[in-house]
Amino acid sequence: MKLGVIGHPINHSKSPIIHNQWLKDHGIDGEYTAIDIAPDNLEKDIKDYIEQGLSGFNVTVPHKQSVLSLCSSLEATAAAIGAVNTIIVSQDGIKGFNTDAYGFLENIRQNSNGFEFRNKTAFILGAGGAAKAIIYGLLESGVQKIILTNRTYDKAQNLQEFDPYKIECVTWDEKERFLHEADLLVNTTSLGMVGHKELELDLSSLKKGAIVNDIVYAPLETNLLKQARLLGYETVTGIGMLLYQAQKSFEIWTGIVPKVDQSLINKVMS
Ligand code: ATR
Repeated sequence: MKLGVIGHPINHSKSPIIHNQWLKDHGIDGEYTAIDIAPDNLEKDIKDYIEQGLSGFNVTVPHKQSVLSLCSSLEATAAAIGAVNTIIVSQDGIKGFNTDAYGFLENIRQNSNGFEFRNKTAFILGAGGAAKAIIYGLLESGVQKIILTNRTYDKAQNLQEFDPYKIECVTWDEKERFLHEADLLVNTTSLGMVGHKELELDLSSLKKGAIVNDIVYAPLETNLLKQARLLGYETVTGIGMLLYQAQKSFEIWTGIVPKVDQSLINKVMS
């Protein structure tokens, strides 16, 4: 079974470590490789790799939207989010899925102390590609309200179209004023990641009992999570979102739900 991930650049991808471990665990004869495809070559290169036997692959930055038009069918979540991160190739054609929303939700479900999304208020920092999948997942899970803030306000307003009644946009400068409402706070920006600027956010007014999640996983404990932990809030790191989106992709390709455990996390983080 030939599997892989396409992106540009792609050399830092952790996905080969994860999927090759699972292929091995389940005795599946196959390999998962990182494939660099420049945007201009997307259609031609995908066609070539499929001709050479690629039967399933992940899609990452910057191709998640551009591959939509190359898919012959889309699963409902991918169509609603407008981005594809998983593709399966069969006789019926190329089918696109999005497992990022699942990855986000499953990370919180597995790693929080029984957090229930229904009727809760989520506070989302950032309005990029990751935020889009997360907001879709939160709305599907029955949250009552989403407070959305982004440096570029227009991008937050664009995402408000998912559900104008449930999503409230607030400006980046004023964001701290709304923290007292949040049951779940999620950083979906790249701030706090190794090599990026820090996220400046004072959590002292965050609602008591709130959970704080960062989708950044390098470092595993970002300054946001550290501040939250020191103030006594429950925290969930970002590594689980990567692992659970991968778990769902592996299931799409093989029908097997592979295990996410500490030894896999150690492998990915080493
Ligand atoms: P991804 O697909 O990982 O979500 P992205 O679409 O590039 O990546 O989105 C990155 C997010 O980080 C955006 O919300 C971006 O804010 P802008 O929309 O204003 O660009 C946010 N971000 C990146 N650098 C930032 C910074 N220095 N300050 C505030 N937000 C930042």
